[in-house]
Amino acid sequence: MDKIRIVGGNQLSGQIAISGSKNSSLPIMVASLLTDQKIVLDNIPDLTDIKTLIRILKDLGSDISYSESDKQLSSIRQLNRRVNICSKNLVSNQANYEHLSKMRAGFLVIGPLLARTGYAKVSMPGGCAIGTRPVDIHLTGLRKLGAEITIEEGYVIAKAKNGLIGNLIKLSKPSVGATQNLIMAAVLAKGETSIVNASIEPETSDLISCIKKMGVQIEVRENNNILIQGTKNITGASHKIMADRIEAGTYAIAGCMTGGRLELTNFDPNLLEKPFEILRDIGCSIKVNKNSVIIEKLVSDLQPIKITTEPYPGFPTDLQAQFMALLTQVPGTSVINERIFENRFMHVQELVRMGANINLDGDKAIINGRTDLIGAPVMATDLRASVSLVLAALCARGETIINRVYHLDRGFEDLEKKISNCGGIIERIK
Ligand code: UD1
Repeated sequence: MDKIRIVGGNQLSGQIAISGSKNSSLPIMVASLLTDQKIVLDNIPDLTDIKTLIRILKDLGSDISYSESDKQLSSIRQLNRRVNICSKNLVSNQANYEHLSKMRAGFLVIGPLLARTGYAKVSMPGGCAIGTRPVDIHLTGLRKLGAEITIEEGYVIAKAKNGLIGNLIKLSKPSVGATQNLIMAAVLAKGETSIVNASIEPETSDLISCIKKMGVQIEVRENNNILIQGTKNITGASHKIMADRIEAGTYAIAGCMTGGRLELTNFDPNLLEKPFEILRDIGCSIKVNKNSVIIEKLVSDLQPIKITTEPYPGFPTDLQAQFMALLTQVPGTSVINERIFENRFMHVQELVRMGANINLDGDKAIINGRTDLIGAPVMATDLRASVSLVLAALCARGETIINRVYHLDRGFEDLEKKISNCGGIIERIK
């Protein structure tokens, strides 16, 4: 199994072009199941989660082709990966454990598959070990649309012989996946569906924008209410996937931690308003341009801070682990309150092994800085936790070996290349 070796201490300076968003690509690729016409998607990142979803869709009968072309972005050349998907001839309505155990987002196929074929059998999902992560909100919503649901031998079996019927669905939590699943199911349901307390994460907005191009009427109203007009006339569409705001936030933190001058390009800085506000409060300089930012560590006496993870536009849980790595370098006591997932502190033990002083108290992590970090062999348990160890390693003394690199490959495109181009010492050991 591959490992990553990092020797810390170098400043990161230079330019990094942000890749297409994983969390936006996945639901939008699934939305291709809603139509028998072709969907063309640009800016798809080269990640194992994308490959896993391609396998799930191919097993269902989707015809998928893939092409690459160069695109010039300011002074950086980057590949544009285009995926063409045509789900005209579905051959199965079952998604297996083999793939769903690797990636929770595969569960999103249940909504569109059920709506299109009247039947779906989908394995209960796996994915990152960051809590129990049930699918009850997805299932309650599908039942509201008229689905009959049973759970047998680890599979969810959903039936709607006479099709789904639009309804009012109030989510008990603004679950991102449940909102996306239910939007897709409601698109093919008869009549209007209103999803109340929905996720309005930018990735959900990107899904909505693609589905609108497919000819569907969807409106996001006040109070996180999404209104969908069901239709059978769904066309093909071309769509460019939004840039990955979590990747951008992660490299912004890398810039702050290593003290270089890093320019992040090709993304919308407005989507990181809250994390950038926090970075400024800590003492970093962030110069925001239209599609790029320049990051520098501003002062040596950084300020401690309190952070609470919340649904968008609040502080994203997917940047929590990375901020924790940064806060080990900030003098004083900082507190992170994790409110989205109940068990998303698996990186704490590994950061402590590198010299951090962090105590856990229920859903809070108390970080006492600043401590010298020292390189060590570490192991990551989930995607964002893994990259927090990369950040810690970049400013640690000596060598860090990161095991279980497959987590990073699920979500960070060209990680080693992007970091080493900016002066970091990082290599993959096969
Ligand atoms: C998505 C993102 C993930 C991010 C998360 C929160 C993708 C592929 N993944 O995951 O990177 O960390 O949003 O922003 O987009 N919950 C239930 N019942 C359900 C569904 C969720 O109790 O049926 C709970 C979860 O356990 C969790 C919380 O709701 O505590 C939020 O989960 P959710 O928003 O659904 O996250 P995902 O869609 O899985």
